[in-house]
Amino acid sequence: MALDRIRKRPEDHAGANLDDYERCAASFSWTQARSLLDGLPGGGLNIAHEAVDRHVQAGRGGKLALRWIGRDDQIRDFSYADLAAQTSRFANVLAQFGVGKGERVYSLLGRSPELYIAALGTLKNGSVFSPLFSAFGPEPIKARMSIGGAKVLITSEAFYLRKVEPWRKELDSLALVLLTECSGNPPTATVDLAAVMTAASETFETVRTEPEDMALVHFTSGTTGRPKGAVHVHEAVVAHHITGRFALDLHADDIFWCTADPGWITGTSYGIVSPLTNGATMIVDQAEFDAERWYRILQDQKVTVWYTAPTAIRMLMKAGAQIPKRFDLSRLRFISSVGEPLNPEAVVWGVEAFGKPIHDNWWQTETGGIMISNYPAMDVKPGSMGRPLPGITAGIVERRNGEICEIDKPMAMGELALRPGWPSMMRAYLHEEERYRKCFAGGWYLTGDLAMRDADGYYWFVGRSDDVIKSAGHLVGPFEVESALMEHPAVAEVGVIGLPDPAAGEMVKAYVALKEGFEANELLRKELLGHARKRLGPAVAPKDIAFRQNLPKTRSGKIMRRLLKARELGLPEGDISTLESEER
Ligand code: WT7
Repeated sequence: MALDRIRKRPEDHAGANLDDYERCAASFSWTQARSLLDGLPGGGLNIAHEAVDRHVQAGRGGKLALRWIGRDDQIRDFSYADLAAQTSRFANVLAQFGVGKGERVYSLLGRSPELYIAALGTLKNGSVFSPLFSAFGPEPIKARMSIGGAKVLITSEAFYLRKVEPWRKELDSLALVLLTECSGNPPTATVDLAAVMTAASETFETVRTEPEDMALVHFTSGTTGRPKGAVHVHEAVVAHHITGRFALDLHADDIFWCTADPGWITGTSYGIVSPLTNGATMIVDQAEFDAERWYRILQDQKVTVWYTAPTAIRMLMKAGAQIPKRFDLSRLRFISSVGEPLNPEAVVWGVEAFGKPIHDNWWQTETGGIMISNYPAMDVKPGSMGRPLPGITAGIVERRNGEICEIDKPMAMGELALRPGWPSMMRAYLHEEERYRKCFAGGWYLTGDLAMRDADGYYWFVGRSDDVIKSAGHLVGPFEVESALMEHPAVAEVGVIGLPDPAAGEMVKAYVALKEGFEANELLRKELLGHARKRLGPAVAPKDIAFRQNLPKTRSGKIMRRLLKARELGLPEGDISTLESEER
């Protein structure tokens, strides 16, 4: 089935929040969006208050907020009132240990209830929350905690012993380690979270935060240098809320499942904040991807709105369109996807498997929330990311003689840019003013993505303008991987690129030149793979390593990843005028 347009009929979107894109985009204002939220009773704005307590105060405390499904299918339910009580306990724990406003609280947890409670409890305490992905190894964890000056870490005992304890002494700022899943006596200089939670009070007055106060730090990767800590403020909640309404069509009676892990921003903005501010019920599955399990959750939990990612959809496609037919998915009303290009085939497959298309949307860690999206009441053009959210001005730009110019011609390729000023726009990269400043030019925020806009105003993703790798929806910075490999005594030079992969979109591959005296053989290759995996963790480590005599470099000594990639894929080598002679 090849379709260039999936038409929406009125009965497909009855009751949609965004029932008329043009009209809504024309009349939208952020002030009006802000008025859908409450603000703190005494003034100020706090994400956790909007997500949890305001519902309790309005008499909706009995409503199911979070249904957690354990790996072993055990279910734990939290009403809005339960979440309010637990997050207050957590805020009290922080306060008792002297953790104050603006101080950094990190989590390194799987999708356990404690993660959700810690995130919202931290915000109630006016502290700043920074979630780390649990599949990170010690190096990415250490780098991110150092950059953010972590004061508190919440993690499991097992993660702590394996990934943090060995280097903890090097991080002076870390004053408090709260452990989940404690086996007995907590290790030296750690605290059993369960014990202090039980002792803490269930009432806590949310610390007054202002809209511009720092709330969340999400790390993302660039082509070079250390990971970047994108700073988001409490005002971001206005965007979390309204994008949930418009792009995900969230209503209070929805059962919403965002499959992303809160270790990445999608799992926080839409796996915690947005469904809760919208008063919906959210599903969290602790387990990893499994096609049958996922269909069973959609069926048994009567999921109505589902937000997932292309890698998962491709894996479901591989399992076949017959499997979903065995399940009753009649409650599913809206399916949405983000993080990497969603192939047109996948959109159309959605129609075959679920009777409805998959709605692609686009955003970044830096934008804090969905910026470009397909909506229930708008025709889908498979392969397009959709149109800008009401309140967002997007453009395709290019640099001409150093100036940023907008390109108006339909389907002309350029850099995707956004007019700054929306509430969830990052306010800084921690300690990296220069890198932050470089994201803005000519009155635009430059996304680093290449895209096109068609005559109907739909945006089409083309690729990234840098060397950052997108693997299974996660950004991997080549420099971080190269640095870990460079630590190995055998490695002289290394270049890391992403190669096309049918499931994960891109696969991380490293090219290594060895030092004198080392022999390129299978044993060493395995050792390097193991070394990288141990340092970086499975989410970041290369899946493959190849040996090269030497690597293509610029005259200034920079490895030309782009050329490495072109050669690997047999593509044109492009401009190689800066290439240093490769004979040595
Ligand atoms: C990069 C941002 C998605 C938010 C959380 C991840 C790529 C994102 C799409 C899409 C093609 C996409 C872009 C973007 N990306 N959505 N719908 N189609 N590419 O945020 O880890 O900061 O990644 O993901 O390259 O810049 P992130």
